[in-house]
Amino acid sequence: MLPRIQQVCCIGAGYVGGPTCAVMAAQCPDVQFAVVDTDAARIAAWNSAALPIYEPGLEELVGRQRGRNLHFSADVEAAVRTADLVLLAVNTPLGQPGADGLGMAPPGLRSVEACARTVARTAKPGAIIVEKSTVLCHTGELIARILQDHGPPDGRFQVLSNPEFLSEGTAVRDLLRPDRVIIGGQPGSEDAQEALRALYARWVPAERIVTMGMWSAELAKLASNALLAQRVSSINAVSAVCEAVGADIAEVARGCGMDSRIGRDFLRASIGFGGPCLSKDLMGLVWLCESLGLHDVATYWDQVLRMNDAQTARFVRRIVRALGPDLSGASVAVLGFAYKAGTGDTRNTPAALVCGELLKLGACLAVYDPKVPEQQIRDYLVAGRAPATGLRVCASAYEAVAGARAVLVLTPWPEFAALDWARAHRLMAHPALAVDGHRILDDRALELLGFSTVSVGVRSSIADS
Ligand SMILES: NC(=O)c1ccc[n+]([C@@H]2O[C@H](COP(=O)([O-])OP(=O)(O)OC[C@H]3O[C@@H](n4cnc5c(N)ncnc54)[C@H](O)[C@@H]3O)[C@@H](O)[C@H]2O)c1
Repeated sequence: MLPRIQQVCCIGAGYVGGPTCAVMAAQCPDVQFAVVDTDAARIAAWNSAALPIYEPGLEELVGRQRGRNLHFSADVEAAVRTADLVLLAVNTPLGQPGADGLGMAPPGLRSVEACARTVARTAKPGAIIVEKSTVLCHTGELIARILQDHGPPDGRFQVLSNPEFLSEGTAVRDLLRPDRVIIGGQPGSEDAQEALRALYARWVPAERIVTMGMWSAELAKLASNALLAQRVSSINAVSAVCEAVGADIAEVARGCGMDSRIGRDFLRASIGFGGPCLSKDLMGLVWLCESLGLHDVATYWDQVLRMNDAQTARFVRRIVRALGPDLSGASVAVLGFAYKAGTGDTRNTPAALVCGELLKLGACLAVYDPKVPEQQIRDYLVAGRAPATGLRVCASAYEAVAGARAVLVLTPWPEFAALDWARAHRLMAHPALAVDGHRILDDRALELLGFSTVSVGVRSSIADS
């Protein structure tokens, strides 16, 4: 008989755990979901009107389910004890560089291991344990071993891999209409796989739910992020050629994307990818390849990361060339600080690298982001050793541009494209420069208003001479 799932516990109330359980709770009203975390402040925020993360549609969803079949708690053990299914959605940051003897940062599994020990001590026999966190191949084996070593003799836990593919900014939509749900398991875990499949089948079409081997499921997540990152680095590499030869990356990408073998998605040149996943997962893959002795493969993926760093660095050089070598005291408006639109997440945001470099060169920055709080911007820049003395955080885009010599768009929020740019130009010091790191502005229209422009993937007379 298939295991019945009436109570689900998700350990980790972050960008994955919160939205995932909110969507599952809405789709499975007869199942109880407990999202737990050792960070009591984060749990308090989930139980308040001001959720700890921003995602379009999430506030309404949580508002509807919370207190019904969706609960947030800091009592991890109590929730694990009664769960039929335990999702592990804790963070898996990279470890200390050099800690692995290879001179690289090994994947950090401390939280996953800690959760496995808690589950071993507390969960009821027969509970299904699901890796949702992104992990390297064979982490499922490690979890199973911890469960065996620390659990009761009659534990018989089943371990599955169910990697999460949501994208921040569209998390609720992605969870409601996923391209695919992957459920990996070892031979003998078919019943557990089927029980999890049945849960998803309530709202995900059957053909989109795929079962496979455990190591394939773990690797499919890492490989997906590596392929996405590679695509961004590929189009960014072409954008550098565009700037040099006088082509336009928007036109080139269009010309390439119309080929059905290539496709249009993820062909937008930018200042580089950021966020909590792509770089971390690529580094994890590079580490895995090195540890397997696959040096050429490791070098191949490592180059995707290097290309990304080079893209952001080239962007900064172009800004400096356009503004002149002496930036001390130069007033620069920065629109956007989140690593992408639709989220307030600033982990590994390229905007911080750009801002950090300009602050080090003495520029005075006025930063505005619609979803990132002031303290988060300050903390992030200070942690990156940027001097915060020249930093002002503003409450609107117009406040940020007032008196500035240059305005930089560093996150592609739609509201920046829709700005009244004539008003912005009137508010700025002249001659005014507009720098577009995401190709969301209309350069020609800006030039007619009197702006000089610098955009990713198109030659600029003041930045590329
Ligand atoms: N953020 C994304 O877009 C995304 C998408 C897909 C997959 N992932 C992966 O999912 C995992 C979680 O990512 P996230 O962005 O939600 O991370 P996050 O940092 O937002 O949340 C993780 C939470 O786990 C909690 N935690 C850590 N150790 C714990 C423990 N022992 N007991 C209880 N709680 C503990 C932390 O306090 C934190 O609140 C990572 O492996 C990530 O790579 C993330």
